Amino acid sequence: MCGIVAYIGERQALPILINGLKRLEYRGYDSAGVSIWNKKTKVYKRKGKVADLEAFIGNDDLTGNIGIGHTRWATHGEPNDVNAHPHMSMNGKFTIIHNGIIENYSRLRDKLTSFGVTFKSETDTEVLANLIEYIYEKGAVDAELAVRLALSKVIGAYGLVIICSDEPDKLIAARKGSPLVIGVGNEEYFLASDATPIVEYTKSVIYLNDGDVAVITKDQLTLKTDHNKSQTPIIQELNIDIGEIDKGGYEHFMLKEIFEQPRSINDTFRGRVKTENDKIHLGGLYEVMPKLIEAKRILIIACGTSWHAGLVGEYLFEDLARIPVEVEYASEFRYRNPIINKDDVVIAISQSGETADTLAAIQLAKEKGALVLGICNVVGSSIPRETHAGVYTHAGPEIGVASTKAFTCQVTVLAMMAITIGRSKELISDSSYQNLIKEFNLIPEKIEEILQNSLIIKEAAELYKDSTNSLYLGRGYLFPVALEGALKLKEISYIHAEGYPAAEMKHGPIALIDEKMPVVVVATKDSSYEKIVSNVQEVKARNGKIIAVVTKGDTVIRKMADHVFEIPETNPVFSALLSVIPLQLFSYYIAVMRGCNVDQPRNLAKSVTVE
Ligand code: F6R
Repeated sequence: MCGIVAYIGERQALPILINGLKRLEYRGYDSAGVSIWNKKTKVYKRKGKVADLEAFIGNDDLTGNIGIGHTRWATHGEPNDVNAHPHMSMNGKFTIIHNGIIENYSRLRDKLTSFGVTFKSETDTEVLANLIEYIYEKGAVDAELAVRLALSKVIGAYGLVIICSDEPDKLIAARKGSPLVIGVGNEEYFLASDATPIVEYTKSVIYLNDGDVAVITKDQLTLKTDHNKSQTPIIQELNIDIGEIDKGGYEHFMLKEIFEQPRSINDTFRGRVKTENDKIHLGGLYEVMPKLIEAKRILIIACGTSWHAGLVGEYLFEDLARIPVEVEYASEFRYRNPIINKDDVVIAISQSGETADTLAAIQLAKEKGALVLGICNVVGSSIPRETHAGVYTHAGPEIGVASTKAFTCQVTVLAMMAITIGRSKELISDSSYQNLIKEFNLIPEKIEEILQNSLIIKEAAELYKDSTNSLYLGRGYLFPVALEGALKLKEISYIHAEGYPAAEMKHGPIALIDEKMPVVVVATKDSSYEKIVSNVQEVKARNGKIIAVVTKGDTVIRKMADHVFEIPETNPVFSALLSVIPLQLFSYYIAVMRGCNVDQPRNLAKSVTVE
């Protein structure tokens, strides 16, 4: 959840760290800090944004070619200057930045306290810094050994980078459960928790594996396992462009990412869905496809927006491939004793590929012998490495904390999978297949059409920006869209919003409806249309304000609704891909009008690497 950046080489470290922290701020943003080595270790850290840290540093001399930086999302200890990273050990020998959680920190802290160690902060990270120093001062031959011995006593997860003042020509990095990427330059190395701060300097990267410990000088990198076995670093090429991690002229990343969806869905299609061909090519699933086709049940595990995409997947797999599906919150699944049979296939969905609960659920499913597949956006992240096979979404970097293009690309992949299975099982005839593919290929341009009409959505947002509550309703494929619309609104505008299957409204939420309650109804033309028309009437009869997402040309709901957002007609199996777009825009405009920090909503972080 926090962001790590570090540099060693010939350049000045500070600008690289500050720039990197700004790129990483979407991962966590309650405090930030840097430490630079130049004859001694200097630490500057501050509660607030990276800009607050920059102001705090001012014109102070922080020259130096080795440095570490961190942007924090608080787990242990409130966000304040003292709890911000980097943390220095009591005698100043070790300075550390850390992502993850040291679960046994309290016991370690008590023990170190009994040995006379004192602490300044409430963090688990400072405990680790002091544990390393304690072991070092007790006679470990060098800093690396002290780090290894300390890590062997730690329970929990970490991605960390350390400077030792006795060996100031090197950085020591280690990973277990929290990602770390090393950028390889010319006599220089960059480290970060994801590739975004690195891409502008080098495209050659090494993803650390769990248990790896790296010792890095400006011209050498030594990589070993936690059992001290030497490893040959595998250098990979990043295929991210610097333009993809800039706002590209948009006011916010979220708006840019909403508008990128025609492109990102096309990228997800590219090379996979071809009109002239009678097959969808999902190379990553090639070897496991027979098992997927034979699956007796599919279990989808995910969190948040990815879980909503999973719910759309449930409808898709059941409709098109006739496979029963259960969609599970990863955080619930992993703490139950779930029943997984040998003919079940588990699909984990994650934008970041680092969500701790999803990763733990994958481990559990693997232990129970399941075939586990991943649908993931971030190349080289932990989930694609932990799953047996999978499909990348190719949405491109998603920087806005609220997920938008990742959702539509996840649904795109799920639709491709469901169609492939349905086709292989001969459940989809040639002509239906051709129609589906034709319609599927039109989705990007239909999204473009919706985006061109964003002004209508903006005008409606103006009227509802001061609401305190709202209800989102949908049925069938559009029920997960209602959930997703409600999540978008609450997370970025802090307006309370609930998503419901429309018919469930009568079992409780209807009591909330009065003339002040905006009710967003996702009611495009499909087999439930008549039913949802009745639900709209029920809202109308109680004077609720109706904002409806409807199919272009709809006249029935238009008469009842206070506002309609039209979307082009499509096959209902793809309706989630279109109907979610107006809801993303509606939330975005409301949040901007309320003066909220759209890209970095309070208390949230882009990748949730703690449980
Ligand atoms: C909401 C949002 C979160 C994520 C969730 C899972 O807009 O972004 O709900 O969807 O934290 O994250 P991933 O997909 O990275 O596993």
